[in-house]
Amino acid sequence: MKRRHIPPAKAWSGRFAKPTDEAVERFCSSLSFDQRLYEEDIEASIAHCRMLAKQKIISQREARQIIRGLNAIREEFRHATFVPLPTDEDIHMAVERRLYELAGPVAGKLHTARSRNDQIATDLRLFVRRHIAEVDRRLRTLQEALGAAALRELHTVAPGFTHLQPAQPILLSHHLLAYAAMLERDRSRLADQLPRVNVLPLGSGALAGTTFNIDRNYVAKLLKFSAISMNSLDAVSDRDFIVEFLAALALIGVHLSRFCEDLILWSSAQFSFVDLPEEFATGSSMMPQKKNPDVAELIRGKSGRLVANLVSLLVTLKGLPMSYNRDLQEDKEPLFDSVDAVESSLDVLARMVSKLRFNRERMREAATAGFTLATELADYLASKGIPFREAHEIVGRIVRYCVERKRRLEELSLAELRSFCSKFDESVRPWLDPLAAVARRQAPGGTSPENVKAQLRALKLSTRSVS
Ligand code: ARG
Repeated sequence: MKRRHIPPAKAWSGRFAKPTDEAVERFCSSLSFDQRLYEEDIEASIAHCRMLAKQKIISQREARQIIRGLNAIREEFRHATFVPLPTDEDIHMAVERRLYELAGPVAGKLHTARSRNDQIATDLRLFVRRHIAEVDRRLRTLQEALGAAALRELHTVAPGFTHLQPAQPILLSHHLLAYAAMLERDRSRLADQLPRVNVLPLGSGALAGTTFNIDRNYVAKLLKFSAISMNSLDAVSDRDFIVEFLAALALIGVHLSRFCEDLILWSSAQFSFVDLPEEFATGSSMMPQKKNPDVAELIRGKSGRLVANLVSLLVTLKGLPMSYNRDLQEDKEPLFDSVDAVESSLDVLARMVSKLRFNRERMREAATAGFTLATELADYLASKGIPFREAHEIVGRIVRYCVERKRRLEELSLAELRSFCSKFDESVRPWLDPLAAVARRQAPGGTSPENVKAQLRALKLSTRSVS
């Protein structure tokens, strides 16, 4: 019988008498999105092929032919010259089909002791591992931008809010580093999940393992996995490592969204705490005066998709019977979408943060508006021996007195203060200075400049200004 030099029309064509319906072909195909995995797919195939040769399952010569073909295909993808066919169901079939065209029938040996089920699980783990590192890098860059901004604004007094109502004066640097602290936990979440991602599924076959004498640990070593999976059914069918990654990305998105919400508020005319750099703002096609915070709004908006992508995969996985099911093909688009949304958001936000110009004068004014020094007065009385609850009550009455007369706490004369409590004396004056109020918050974690510097050190961010 004449040997075939073109690939079988379908990997499973032996079993079927009729060709696939064209609509089904289109419906089932994932190539349009999973070709993004070509680097991972080819890298894993090369490792698998080297192992097959080492174990003498194929010859060294065959392995060389296959690897040469795979390298050529990778170059085609890299240069965007790879031509997909409508019959290429997914990235694995596309690569194999092209390998047949380039290397001839030896291409058919690559799939020995392997299934697309363990193949896609491997590709995805390589992909997630790579993007854990990339997201971490970008989180760090944003932290550094926040650290630099905090250093520039180390002593800038700003209003601190609860319920979006003025609460107590804080340092702007402290506020900025709150976000750096969140990002630090985001980074540690990524680091925590890495050992669970870094496990090799290849060698699990379609679901039950393989009869060939393969060396899984060798493949793991080639692909820098730190372990091999211990149960083939689990290895081909669970996607919990993607769920964890999507959860971490969703939380990063929520953190970025909160930061962006602050920037949106702060850049409004009503707050005027920050001037958006023009390169990061957009105008209106109708209203000539507008300078809109679209970048921050888009980042805030993307958090919706990030949460949705996590939920989407969880729902896909729920109720899947053991082991591989084609539903799992639906894991890729949410994953890619979240990776793109987070990586691009982190990138553009870091650039924007380094260009933010804060309106220090406005912030200082706002820092004491709304009686934010009332707590200082209560603390002052408490330091004079008055029980804090009573001091609180007294200062509450002073605030009401001021509200009724449209006065500020700082304007009250000593005589006025003493009419509420005889413990007031001249020493109260420094308590009504916002910078002093901030400096007094020396308990660890508070907003004093020393604490802010300690945060920079703890986050290994520079404490030296480079102006
Ligand atoms: N494109 C498939 C996926 O993403 C690859 C695995 C296909 N396996 C199968 N038995 N149909 O999950």
